[in-house]
Amino acid sequence: MSKNVQRAKFGSKIGVVLATVGCAVGLGNIWRFPYMLGSNGGAAFLLVYILCILFLGIPVMITEFSIGRHTHKNAAGAFKEMAPGTLWPLLGYNGVLAAFLILGFYSVVSGWTLEYIVQAFTGSLQGKSVTDFATEFEQFSTNPYRPIFWTLLFIAMTHIIIICGVEKGIERASKVMMPLLFFILIVLGIRSVTLDGALDGLKFLFKPDFSKINSSVVLSAMGQAFFSLSIGMGCLITYASYFNKETNLQKTALQVTVLDTFVAVMAGVMIFPAAFSFGITPTAGPELVFITLPNVFGHMPVGWLWSFIFFVLLALAALTSTISLHEVATAYVHEELHFSRKKAAWLVSAGVTVLAILSSLSIGVLREYTIFGLNFFDALDFLTAKIMMPFGGMLVCIFISQRVERSVWVDEITNYGTIRFYFLRTYLFFVKYLAPIAIGLIFLNELGLIELLGKVFK
Ligand code: TRP
Repeated sequence: MSKNVQRAKFGSKIGVVLATVGCAVGLGNIWRFPYMLGSNGGAAFLLVYILCILFLGIPVMITEFSIGRHTHKNAAGAFKEMAPGTLWPLLGYNGVLAAFLILGFYSVVSGWTLEYIVQAFTGSLQGKSVTDFATEFEQFSTNPYRPIFWTLLFIAMTHIIIICGVEKGIERASKVMMPLLFFILIVLGIRSVTLDGALDGLKFLFKPDFSKINSSVVLSAMGQAFFSLSIGMGCLITYASYFNKETNLQKTALQVTVLDTFVAVMAGVMIFPAAFSFGITPTAGPELVFITLPNVFGHMPVGWLWSFIFFVLLALAALTSTISLHEVATAYVHEELHFSRKKAAWLVSAGVTVLAILSSLSIGVLREYTIFGLNFFDALDFLTAKIMMPFGGMLVCIFISQRVERSVWVDEITNYGTIRFYFLRTYLFFVKYLAPIAIGLIFLNELGLIELLGKVFK
């Protein structure tokens, strides 16, 4: 089949960056990052997280970009083309499945943002105490109907944009939303650090206590890095398949990583000083953002308006990410299973709806049903972020360095020799040795195997 024919592309340079930033920046930065950091020892987590971004994130991202643009295919199709008749396409299926599972819980949290938009608008976030917010969140998220209603609405919004296609839907939406989001984060960050007692929050976020670092913190930080950058499951392969031949892959990877990390750190600056100032424990878990921020808004002039704008933007950031996840699965069903794009999108949305209803209920009425001690929602999160994505990242590095001819990826990364390959040797060292070995060790360690070996050889 000839490449490039009838295949969509992003229309402009800035569109490429913003759509990819839109994919990377989302609830992972503003909702997941602060609560992961809060429950994994604060600044020590941040440090390990940044190391993971630099040493694993950037190389894996460049690798995914090069595979995607080289083949102009979906996650599974790309491996089929580059390594036909082998087991490598399984790596693509791992990605498509991961996208689907992530959407299953991500849409639920996205749905929560819609509830908060309405509450902000109607003024019901004003004039309440810290405990009121906590109880109300608990009541809302465990309710069997309300969150599901919002989640379904969110899936429907994602579905519509996906049907509108790559350029008109994804690119246009991202161009407007992303810059606005940056602006509001900065305003809220400033507000939060000027609250009484903010300093303790900043210390929690930036002053590492190295004794807090253990294997589970490292695994969580690595999982968060993969989740936040949307790497390790073919999402960026799919996005890069819409890049054009002028797109500079190294530069795009750097821009996306810097912006994504900036948003995560700003979310930390916005949450922790405020949490400490209002006496909310940073280990609160998934509800951290939803109980801390309303307190900040409650103490601002025209707080309802700020909270309204904030939750609208959070919902939009979530939307550019759910779109990217949906796109991974839809592109696969459309291109590999030969459904029309519309039918493919319907199929994915229907499947996600089932998963999302189950994850939403698993926080409330179905909370007794657990998988390895985790409810369905947490189990989906754990399986994807801490297992499937790092595993995918490790294998994609092995794939490019062992299986693909060097000239292929060098050509791709240098746009056929027209731009310089900065750090070629470093990149090669990272994808060939550092990333696979580091990820492998973190896995072994988490499984307790290293400790076991230590005992055996003592
Ligand atoms: N990175 C997004 C976030 O931080 C979530 C996301 C979008 C994602 N696409 C992905 C996560 C692909 C993993 C894989 O919110």
